[in-house]
Amino acid sequence: MTDADAAVANPHFLDPDWWRHAVVYQIYPRSFADSDDNGTGDIRGMIDRLDHLAGLGVDAVWVSPWYPSPLLDGGYDVADYRDVSPDFGTLADADAFIAAAHARGLRVLLDLVPNHSSWDHPWFRAALAAGPGSPERARYVFRDGRGEHGEEPPNNWGSLFGGPAWTRVTEADGRPGQWYLHLFDISQPDFDWTNEDVCAEIDAVMRFWFDRGIDGFRIDVADAMVKDAALPDVPVNPETGFGSNEKNPGMPQWDQPGLADVQRRWRAVADAYAGTELGGRVFVAEAYIDPIERLVAYVEPDRLHTTFNFDALISEWSAASQRWVINHTIPAHEAVGAPTTWVLGNHDNTRVATRYGKPVTGRDFTAESETAAEPIELSAALLAMPTDIGLGRRRARAAALLELGLPGGAYIYQGEELGLDEIEDLPEAVLQDPVWERSGHRMRGRDGCRVPLPWSGEASPYGFSATAEPWLPMPAHWAPLTVAVQDADPASTLNLYRRALALRRTLPDLRADAFAWDELDGGDVLAFRRGGVLMVVNFGATPVELPPGEVLVASAPLDDHRLPHDAAVWVRL
Ligand code: NOJ
Repeated sequence: MTDADAAVANPHFLDPDWWRHAVVYQIYPRSFADSDDNGTGDIRGMIDRLDHLAGLGVDAVWVSPWYPSPLLDGGYDVADYRDVSPDFGTLADADAFIAAAHARGLRVLLDLVPNHSSWDHPWFRAALAAGPGSPERARYVFRDGRGEHGEEPPNNWGSLFGGPAWTRVTEADGRPGQWYLHLFDISQPDFDWTNEDVCAEIDAVMRFWFDRGIDGFRIDVADAMVKDAALPDVPVNPETGFGSNEKNPGMPQWDQPGLADVQRRWRAVADAYAGTELGGRVFVAEAYIDPIERLVAYVEPDRLHTTFNFDALISEWSAASQRWVINHTIPAHEAVGAPTTWVLGNHDNTRVATRYGKPVTGRDFTAESETAAEPIELSAALLAMPTDIGLGRRRARAAALLELGLPGGAYIYQGEELGLDEIEDLPEAVLQDPVWERSGHRMRGRDGCRVPLPWSGEASPYGFSATAEPWLPMPAHWAPLTVAVQDADPASTLNLYRRALALRRTLPDLRADAFAWDELDGGDVLAFRRGGVLMVVNFGATPVELPPGEVLVASAPLDDHRLPHDAAVWVRL
């Protein structure tokens, strides 16, 4: 990269506060672009398609795990934190990707999975071999079982993917032995974050990638690292028969006080790069915790920089609920001096166009508060409902203008810019998410939002691969949604995103933090101002008369300066 290249591509590239306003595009490497025609995406494919992202107008990419992994949880089961999976390429490819992204003015965030490794990680293998009481075992959460012969798990916790959160190992002498904790899949043993080896190793892993030029990390399950040392039982979830994974305050698996010190330690590692060309490195936390006042503790000044706003993702499509989320999100972040983020989807959640086409579109935040639903549970509940995909796509376009119109940062999950829907009818034989097996086929899991991207052509593999069968089948009805088709259609969702992102980048009012509700706001109409730009979203059936002004971008055609149902507009007053 030269600074000049990057600055031409994105004038805000070298702004040390770039992350406060950044639009970040999530690449799920397996499903983005396949350069070697084996049906699985790879890093060379990502490089080949970087111009799509530069042309879209995003500021950064977040790459889901590309590390060596048995892929038993889509790469969130890391076997080596300092390398790249041969399925995706080589370290040299990773370096080339980082350089190519920077040359286009795109910052690069990597996924870091510090709560657990894969069971293929050398540390876990060493822990199994070394036996009870060893320093190798102390890096993970191994405990003796309960019951006379240790035959009962150490507590009643349940895995988020179904089944128990503990698995018993066979010791070297062939006898049943200790149990290890895995909040997720059996192949994802949890690290013990009270162990200094673990803390030091993750510091070193961060530096390894920072030194290669990455700009920050997305922190996987940022609320889980530290557990209540007593590992107490929790109330039973009657549906699973195991301990509940609700995240109410006081639950011993989540959001423990000790997390603050872990996060401060990471912050110091990232801040040490402040004097370098790329500046200090940044974090975004993945934590589904409620209410937002609890979550913003993670982004206090000496902790992490940003956190995903899952309330926005989970909220139903209604003015009241969205207003509630905005009214809670902005002040809570202001109180700690952190920018908000806005999120519509990711690789764990039902795609937005499908969600918003359901009779129930998400959580009603104005109703008596419940605890946040885990994405997997939410997706399972949605699956049973019919979808009006036309309506869902229309709303998803409006939601994009709402998301991109708000102050702070925003996240775009690959394919959102194409209005892709969830593939809800994948054949059971192709399902890969461990949730499917671990839930005893009660929940299909998250494969439906991970289907590869359609780039061009009339049929699968739509330019994702040259000829190979993609790792998940791509549907016939995506032919009109390819990048190539949408590129040529000025009214496409792709061009809507491009227009909105270009405005966001160039209009100073949209880079400032100012936000104020407008007098038009009320009932089914959400209306707010960003300086001299008015943003309006109509959730109701009645068209909304807009005040005089220049229409900058609209998610649906206006009828004589009136905004129709399920549509959004940006107006320069
Ligand atoms: C959150 C990730 O987004 C998800 O895909 C993964 O299964 C879990 N964390 C466990 O790492």
